[in-house]
Amino acid sequence: MSSPRKILVTSALPYANGSLHLGHLLETIQTDIWVRFQKAIGNTCHYVCADDTHGTAIMLKAEEQGISPEQLIADISKEHQADFTDFLIGFDHYHSTHSEENRELSALVYTRARDAGHISQRAIKQAYDPEKHMFLADRYIKGNCPKCKAEDQYGDNCEACGATYAPTDLINPVSKVSGATPIEKESTHYFFKLPDFSDFLKQWTRAGHLQEEVANKLAEWLDQGLQEWDISRDAPYFGFEIPDAPGKYFYVWLDAPIGYMASFKHLCDNTDGLEFDDYWAANASTELYHFIGKDIINFHALFWPALLDTAGFRTPTKICAHGFLTVNGKKMSKSRGTFIRARSYLNHFDAEYLRYYFASKLGNRVDDIDLNLEDFVQRSNSDLVGKLVNIASRCAKFVEKAGGQLSANIHHPELLNKFIAANGEIQAFYENREYAKAMRLIMALADDANAYIAEQEPWVLAKQEGKEQEVLDVCSMGINLFRLLMIYLQPVLPKTAASAAEFLNDDLAWQQNLQPLRSHTIQRFKPLIQRISEEDAAAMVTAEQADQEKAAALNAKNTSTTKQQTENTMEPIAETISFDDFAKLDLRVARIIEAKHVEGADKLLQLTLDIGSEQRNVFAGIKSAYQPEQLTGKLTVMVANLAPRKMKFGMSEGMVIAAGPGGKDIWLLEPGEGAQPGMRIK
Ligand code: MSP
Ligand code: ZN
Repeated sequence: MSSPRKILVTSALPYANGSLHLGHLLETIQTDIWVRFQKAIGNTCHYVCADDTHGTAIMLKAEEQGISPEQLIADISKEHQADFTDFLIGFDHYHSTHSEENRELSALVYTRARDAGHISQRAIKQAYDPEKHMFLADRYIKGNCPKCKAEDQYGDNCEACGATYAPTDLINPVSKVSGATPIEKESTHYFFKLPDFSDFLKQWTRAGHLQEEVANKLAEWLDQGLQEWDISRDAPYFGFEIPDAPGKYFYVWLDAPIGYMASFKHLCDNTDGLEFDDYWAANASTELYHFIGKDIINFHALFWPALLDTAGFRTPTKICAHGFLTVNGKKMSKSRGTFIRARSYLNHFDAEYLRYYFASKLGNRVDDIDLNLEDFVQRSNSDLVGKLVNIASRCAKFVEKAGGQLSANIHHPELLNKFIAANGEIQAFYENREYAKAMRLIMALADDANAYIAEQEPWVLAKQEGKEQEVLDVCSMGINLFRLLMIYLQPVLPKTAASAAEFLNDDLAWQQNLQPLRSHTIQRFKPLIQRISEEDAAAMVTAEQADQEKAAALNAKNTSTTKQQTENTMEPIAETISFDDFAKLDLRVARIIEAKHVEGADKLLQLTLDIGSEQRNVFAGIKSAYQPEQLTGKLTVMVANLAPRKMKFGMSEGMVIAAGPGGKDIWLLEPGEGAQPGMRIK
């Protein structure tokens, strides 16, 4: 046997801002099958991954939940890892991009790129939220389309007419984060000079590291000329500060792929004899495989090799891109009921049905893969139960009756040889990620095995006198064929393979020269895989939808409580707040210069307030106590730095404070006590 290969394998790092869904699992299952295959045939293979924890989305999500980003990513990491474990994904290590290893490696890669002259700086203008004091990516700005005037469109393109534009072109733009109108603001950004690597990438993308269709697509971009890549973000940002640029952070996509190295570094630090440099040094003779989805090809096939190259590290051996998962022929979407989270699946089915289903559909191209639930149920039952397990269950009881030892004879050497001869082709299919072809070949062999047993009819022979040896020979043959199929299927069905190994008293070692078991004692057979039903699949979809409706209702309820609180200033404050929270309040004396009824609102009055420096429009829930005309000239206290809130009736720019239990008894200040509009209250 040639000396074993040494391979480091990764799956893309899932974002830590949400639960895993079956699309993520398409990728990790594809990767895990490849890794298990490599390990089974005796190669040295390490499989690492991590949560991708940085960026604005995670920062805002944590804020929304009232927890720190560190807490959020710790919770999500636990959830992700539990899901992966239950899908039998055998990571050697699962890390986080928010780790010391990653901080150091990111700084190192950046510094080396900078010292080699590949980092530039310049000021750019960007949309800025003056309320929230943060720059806004396009997806955080909404407004009316400048072309067709459709409302509520994102900052970069219109879903109604398809126009693309800059966020500054939007009519009435609003920040999704605060509701404020964004302004333009300038700040210095750091760029990775990707065009410096144009020649290197033209060569690298054609050097066998990519699928041909991927290389062709990239060639189009390379021909159009590459742009410098903006790798910095301004505070506030959850990420790593750039070493020589306080207040600037690495864009999440800079440190995300370095997270592959960081995860492996952590594994090395905890594994005797495993050396980081053996896998990452520029001259490393080992292999590096990245499994990714088609949406993130440019990050992996352009930026990443260029960064690695300039930082003095090796570049990937192969980047294996897959297509997207659709469910029942449709894009996964919550509203269509085609969105299935990893956990919802696991609540209804074992992992292996999906592992097999994905394997039976995956090729090495970038085509999308459909999970058709009817087909899923049918294929699980017909292939796994009807074909595969059936072989063992039909033969096991006769072997058991004969004393539990397989025959010394090979009843049908030709058939056995056919099974053994398929070894090379099956290995090649796995190696080339042609799993669908491998599954088809394996199931064709299972058909042969079943046909053989049906023809021999051991159950008929068993009733005939003097046929005991023949029954044992036939059934031993069946068990041996089953064993070979399980050897071939172990990357896909690791749990069933483990049970089969126990039943067969054998380690299912995947040798180059496979031999049958003769005169070998086996264990009692226990059912290996159960049938599943369409009702199970329907129950999964119903439960998922119910969960999503619950989540949506909860969301709506949260919004309506906030709304109630804004409408009704008498809402009691239940929780304590910290002194810091209190110190943030800008409380000012305000004079009510005008009060009006609000059409369609039974609690609200619209107040125009004078706070000395400016006038504010506020909706206040004090209609039960005052007629508008009674209010004019009265003083109140207002929270002047409350983020403006868009209400049904218009924008509310603060909140007024009054004393009393509510209803008819809401007391405002009377003028003439020395309080003046604009006075701060502390
Ligand atoms: N965090 C980045 C990856 C950083 S890698 C250095 C990211 N995260 S993700 O959570 O959005 O996606 C993780 C992987 O799942 C990606 O490879 C992505 O293509 C894949 N998938 C996400 N949805 C998918 C489907 N519906 N179908 C198949 N794969 C999909 O991108
Ligand atoms: Zn439009």
